[in-house]
Amino acid sequence: MKICIDCDDAAVTLKKVIYEHLKSKGIDITDLNYSEGKENALYPEIGFNLAKEVAAGKYDRGISICGTGLGMAMIANKVEGVFAGTCHDVFSAERLRKSNDAQIITMGERVIGPELAKKIIDAWLGSEFEGGGSAPKVAQMRNLERGSFHPEL
Ligand code: RB5
Repeated sequence: MKICIDCDDAAVTLKKVIYEHLKSKGIDITDLNYSEGKENALYPEIGFNLAKEVAAGKYDRGISICGTGLGMAMIANKVEGVFAGTCHDVFSAERLRKSNDAQIITMGERVIGPELAKKIIDAWLGSEFEGGGSAPKVAQMRNLERGSFHPEL
């Protein structure tokens, strides 16, 4: 599984913690580092770039971190084919995969400490979509998304 990670200027420390954590577990993780060499890169363009990479299939999952995680989730969900959610607890992180089939998790460095963040990421990566009763709900989200992006269809 290929994973990408990125952050804005509010979450540089937490990004490093999670990157090192996953690297030490032998996970294939890439720091997209969108801001490198750019002045004043803002979370919308950083999160949009990450979500596009995931939507294009270059990565199976993405981790997007800002001050709260909220802006990163909002922008990721504007990319067709991508589902993202903000998680600051383990239960939600599991459900984000099991119920919602989201490829992107977002978090806020100003909200959560590094140890809990690592546990949340582990729970999310250790969970898969369960299908079952969630399958028609996710399918409906995909259909509604398709209608929203392609009203002509
Ligand atoms: C700082 O730019 C802050 O607004 C950002 O990191 C994030 O929390 C937005 O949702």
